Amino acid sequence: MSFLDWFRTPPGARLEALAPAHAPRVTRIHAAAFARPWDVPEFERLLGDRAVLADGFFLGASLCGFAISRVVLDEAEILTVAMAAEARGRGHARPLLAHHLDALVRRGARVVHLEVEDGNAPALALYRRLGFREAGRREGYYPRPDGTRAAALTMSLAL
Ligand SMILES: CC(C)(COP(=O)(O)OP(=O)(O)OC[C@H]1O[C@@H](n2cnc3c(N)ncnc32)[C@H](O)[C@@H]1OP(=O)(O)O)[C@@H](O)C(=O)NCCC(=O)NCCS
Repeated sequence: MSFLDWFRTPPGARLEALAPAHAPRVTRIHAAAFARPWDVPEFERLLGDRAVLADGFFLGASLCGFAISRVVLDEAEILTVAMAAEARGRGHARPLLAHHLDALVRRGARVVHLEVEDGNAPALALYRRLGFREAGRREGYYPRPDGTRAAALTMSLAL
């Protein structure tokens, strides 16, 4: 069975592994999606790391989103997932993550973990749709711009 069997890749879209050359575009998408952005050298290192799997969602020639995980033996951890703001809410993240999970299976991962801010509705819907279930909760983990703190949920999926 393939995760990608569940979701249609839209016409004109392609799913492809990312390389260090994609770091500048990945950095821009990440910076627009997260309060604490990572820089280009950080993404260059990650995308060149043999233990890291990175997949991109392209519409035409344009990289619109990515999923990046680290694999250690038979366990994977999703490090970051984001879609460019203008490409969100169109169902694109589902085939992206499905393709990424298939790649993790091929790499030998048997279980995948991630961490997400409680209240991040699109991310929680995406992960639940792909079969992730809550495994734990860390209260007061993420600082919010208003000075309050949000809980982190840990989720996992047996592949
Ligand atoms: C999380 C993210 C990658 C989802 O990408 P997307 O392309 O908008 O997601 P999709 O359109 O494929 O939808 C995935 C699910 O989220 C739901 N969803 C999308 N936008 C939503 C919104 N604003 N509120 C609630 N649910 C939403 C969809 O309905 C779908 O769930 P379903 O399959 O049960 O219908 C995107 O919102 C993003 O980049 N967010 C900023 C970065 C981030 O938070 N990353 C995750 C950190 S752990």
